[in-house]
Amino acid sequence: MNLSITPSGQACGAEVRGVDLSQPLDAATIAALRSAWLEHHVLAFPDQRLDDDALERYTQYFGAFGDDPFIAPIAGRKHIIAVERRADETTSLFAEAWHSDWSFQPRPPAGTCLYGLVIPPVGGDTLFANQHAALEAMPKPLRARIEGRIALHSAKKAYAPDGLYGANDRKGRSMVIRPSKDAENVQRHPLIQRHPETGREGLFSCLGYIIGIDGMDDAEAMPLLFELYQWQSKPAFVYRHRWQPNMLVMWDNRSLLHAATGGYAGHHRLLHRTTIAAA
Ligand code: SIN
Repeated sequence: MNLSITPSGQACGAEVRGVDLSQPLDAATIAALRSAWLEHHVLAFPDQRLDDDALERYTQYFGAFGDDPFIAPIAGRKHIIAVERRADETTSLFAEAWHSDWSFQPRPPAGTCLYGLVIPPVGGDTLFANQHAALEAMPKPLRARIEGRIALHSAKKAYAPDGLYGANDRKGRSMVIRPSKDAENVQRHPLIQRHPETGREGLFSCLGYIIGIDGMDDAEAMPLLFELYQWQSKPAFVYRHRWQPNMLVMWDNRSLLHAATGGYAGHHRLLHRTTIAAA
């Protein structure tokens, strides 16, 4: 193994070379990658030729597959979804708001793997916001208002029948989204959490999948969540990831928020995605 790990120089993220993910990996390499993942929160592997078998094998080095609700898997696979936008598509951009994947689940996924198949020549970057850094730099008065608070998480604004991707979603979306009443379920998670592997404190998830704060009136909770959202996504905490075709990216949902960006109208974009279940 001759791993080379180059930090992005931004708030998180590192590029990894010297490993061929199309081949099975040995235990030492997997341990080194897990350690780099926990340190940098986002790892990008350029120049990887991965088919869906290799993507699934790589994902499972880090845990079981997560449960991906509301989006149909690609044909012939149970655990891979396509994040896709055709060149002529005019639907709202998928995943453009900051979020932590599936934070509305009882046990949200530890991580996500995303492999670039068709990458537009411009735009389509993914943004990552380091939620350990956001908490550590947070002004004390703001922290005092969220300390010990439990957030209420739900997918309803996105995936309920009357949500963003529900019945009124404009026709012609290439992604096969399946809105459901199940999206109205609510789960409770602390706003400040310790990372289960590193023990480092961070903010967990944000407005969007967070629809309220336990025991707080909306009149107080919503402005607080909005203020928090603005803090969590400040440029100082953000790494902007520029994609290349044949690049695998894995990120840690326990440490980060992420958001898709546009700017590639007229170009096709296609990536295959898996999630890594919490241990
Ligand atoms: C996602 O949130 O999984 C998609 C990110 C992207 O399309 O850049």
